Amino acid sequence: MADLQGKTIVVTGAGGGIGLAAVERFVASGANVVATDLAGTGVDTAGEMGDTVVSQVADVTSRADWESTRELAIGTFGRIDGLVNNAGIEGAITPLVEYPEEMLDRVLAINVKGVFLGMQIIAPLIIEGGGGAIVNVSSVAGLSGASNLSAYSASKHAVIGLTKSAALEFAPQAVRCNAICPSPIDTRMMRSLEDAMKSDDVDAATLQALIASNIPLGRYGAPSEVADLMTFLLSDDARFLSGAAIPIDGAMKAR
Ligand SMILES: NC(=O)c1ccc[n+]([C@@H]2O[C@H](COP(=O)([O-])OP(=O)(O)OC[C@H]3O[C@@H](n4cnc5c(N)ncnc54)[C@H](O)[C@@H]3O)[C@@H](O)[C@H]2O)c1
Repeated sequence: MADLQGKTIVVTGAGGGIGLAAVERFVASGANVVATDLAGTGVDTAGEMGDTVVSQVADVTSRADWESTRELAIGTFGRIDGLVNNAGIEGAITPLVEYPEEMLDRVLAINVKGVFLGMQIIAPLIIEGGGGAIVNVSSVAGLSGASNLSAYSASKHAVIGLTKSAALEFAPQAVRCNAICPSPIDTRMMRSLEDAMKSDDVDAATLQALIASNIPLGRYGAPSEVADLMTFLLSDDARFLSGAAIPIDGAMKAR
C-alpha cells in the first residue's frame, strides 16, 4: 500500500462517491486531509473520519473559497503536499444543438476553472514545502468524444491540457501533476447518466449491464479502485511520473 505518511492532501468533491473513498484511503495511508465540497454533500462525513481530517464547505469556482481552504490547511496542518481536483459535474445529457448555454457555462466553471483555480492557489504552497503532487480527475470522456455529453467531454479534455501544462511549469519546483481518466465508476454520477439515458424499452438496470458490457473487464470500477490510483500518484512511489493522463478503465481505452 502506497505511503502518504506526514503528507497533507487537499481533496475537492470530498462528499461524493470517488472523493469520499479518496479521503478514506488517504487517511488509511497516513495522510492529513483537507476535504472540501458543497453544503449538503457527504463532506461532513469526511470531516468525522478522525483528527487527521478537516472538512470545509467550499465551491471550487470561488477564488475566495479556495483561499479559505488554503488557510484552513496551513492553519491546521502547517503545510500542503498534495492536491486532488476531483469535484466535477456531468452537466446536461443532451444533443449539442439543444445544450443549454447556462449549463455549458456551469460545466466549464466547475470542471475547468475549478481545477485551474485549485492549482493556481494551492500549488505555490506545495512548492513552498519543497514539492509534491497534484492529481486532476479527467475521464475517458477526456480522451475521446462522448455523444450527448459535449460540454462534459470538452471540460475533461481541458483538464488534460491544464494538467500537462502544469506538469511542465511546476517540474523545476518538484511538483508532479497527473490526470486520471476513469471509465464508468459506481457513484451517483453514473446513476444520473443511466436515468437520463433509459427509455421505455431499456430500464436503468438493463442499461447499466449494457454499459458494463462495453468495458472489457466487464464491470464498473469501484470508487476505492480510483482512490488507490490517486494514492499511488500522490506517493513518492510515483516520483518520476508526471504529465500523464492515465486511464483507469478496465481496458476501455485499449481499443
Ligand atoms: N463516476 C464516474 O463514472 C466518473 C467517470 C469518470 C470521471 N469521473 C469524475 O470523477 C469526479 C468525481 O465524481 P463522482 O463520480 O464521485 O461523482 P459525485 O457526484 O458522487 O461527486 C462529485 C462531487 O463534486 C462536488 N461538486 C460539484 N460541484 C462542485 C463545486 N462547484 N464545488 C465543489 N464541489 C462540487 C459534488 O457536490 C459531489 O460531491 C468528477 O470529476 C467526475 O467527472 C467520474
